[in-house]
Amino acid sequence: MTKPFSLLNELENEDGEPSHLKRGKIVSLLKEKFDFENSHLRPPNSKDKGILAKCFGYFAPDQAKELGIYPYFKEIQEIDGCRVVIDGKEAISISTNNYLGLAQDASVISAAREALEKFGIGCTGSRFLNGTFNLHKTLERELSSFLSREDTIVMSTGFQANQGTIACLLGRRDVAFSDRENHASIYEGCGVAQGKTVRYNHNDMDHLEYYLKKYSDVEGKIIITDSVFSMSGDIANLPAIVKLAKDHGASVMVDEAHGLGVMGEHGRGVASYYNLEDEIDIYMGTFSKSLGSIGGFISAKSKIIEFIRHKASAFIFTAALPPASVAGVIAGLDIMINEPERINLLRENTAYIKRGFFDMGFQVNNNSIPIVPIKIGEEALTLYLNRLLFDEGVFAGVAVSPVVPPLNAMIRTSYTSVHNQQDLDKVLGSFKKLGIKLGIISKE
Ligand SMILES: Cc1ncc(COP(=O)(O)O)c(C=O)c1O
Repeated sequence: MTKPFSLLNELENEDGEPSHLKRGKIVSLLKEKFDFENSHLRPPNSKDKGILAKCFGYFAPDQAKELGIYPYFKEIQEIDGCRVVIDGKEAISISTNNYLGLAQDASVISAAREALEKFGIGCTGSRFLNGTFNLHKTLERELSSFLSREDTIVMSTGFQANQGTIACLLGRRDVAFSDRENHASIYEGCGVAQGKTVRYNHNDMDHLEYYLKKYSDVEGKIIITDSVFSMSGDIANLPAIVKLAKDHGASVMVDEAHGLGVMGEHGRGVASYYNLEDEIDIYMGTFSKSLGSIGGFISAKSKIIEFIRHKASAFIFTAALPPASVAGVIAGLDIMINEPERINLLRENTAYIKRGFFDMGFQVNNNSIPIVPIKIGEEALTLYLNRLLFDEGVFAGVAVSPVVPPLNAMIRTSYTSVHNQQDLDKVLGSFKKLGIKLGIISKE
């Protein structure tokens, strides 16, 4: 990694200066080095021509790397739960969706190893033709039973589960009503589908109702929402969505990527938390978060799953999920159901860290979602803080424009059942120290 970026040492140590002034000076200094907010907008170099000119004129990553604040593609050399080694340096990861610590769990690994040795590293074909192994069917049965659904289809990623399902369900005359903060895979599904999509403002039920009324003459309507929004950690207002769906004759699809293993009884998700499982037509989930692996699924009535199974291109025209991943998920699901103490620990850790951030003056969501975005604002300051956090031994992720609107940059932090109190105190201590140093929070 580039040497630590220390241009601001003098300013950072100017004690006694009011925090907002210090922050302003630091941002100006950083912006002299790198035009953060506008770097994505620069026109390509005029001497490069043709379709590839945009690539040769794209300098933002190089500039960020030169400054030592490039936050992406960090090479993890070792990992165990929430502990990582990057660039030979050990750090606590708060950039993980391994909510229940299953990704490195010994019995999950052992189940995966057994499947690996029995079946090999891949299925070398689509589920449709030659890639369905008995493990896929077992997992589908177990998920259906866990979620009390008629049937389930397991796909190779959660992204494909959303994209493939929406693309094949949303026909030419249909309309999807999609929350503006929904995951990119929902956007992609809506984008390739033949039907129309309208985007209602995030969690804004009046806006959703406005659109439902506007399209009242359309027969095929579906409301699509994340149950837990992956950047903000907000929870969807499922009770209101279900009511609006009933009033306006719409179906409901819920992406429980971050609800599964986190909310509801035994981690069944937000729909279970609200006791609305029977009102949700299509349940989407992933194995890449609480279940520590890779893959995605859709659970619904048999006829719906049968349709998707024969129509979703993202399912049919891609290789099946590898046996070791499937076996790991089966083992993980069993642990999730039978060791509820993991979910309890996750909730305790979440409450502890949120209280800590709140006491420091950061705004946090008052819910039990372990995604805790720390809103900073300016991209420059966010990337710089993220680098300094790493130097302190805390590995976090950032969300900057266009993932979030300009000037809404954040450090996206997330927590697990395998963080201990020392880890959490270390994270809070580092944010406090650096927050004061950079004028983001005041000393008191
Ligand atoms: C809300 C949401 N839906 C879907 C996905 C896609 O899941 P996967 O990583 O399993 O492809 C993600 C992952 O980032 C997500 O956060």
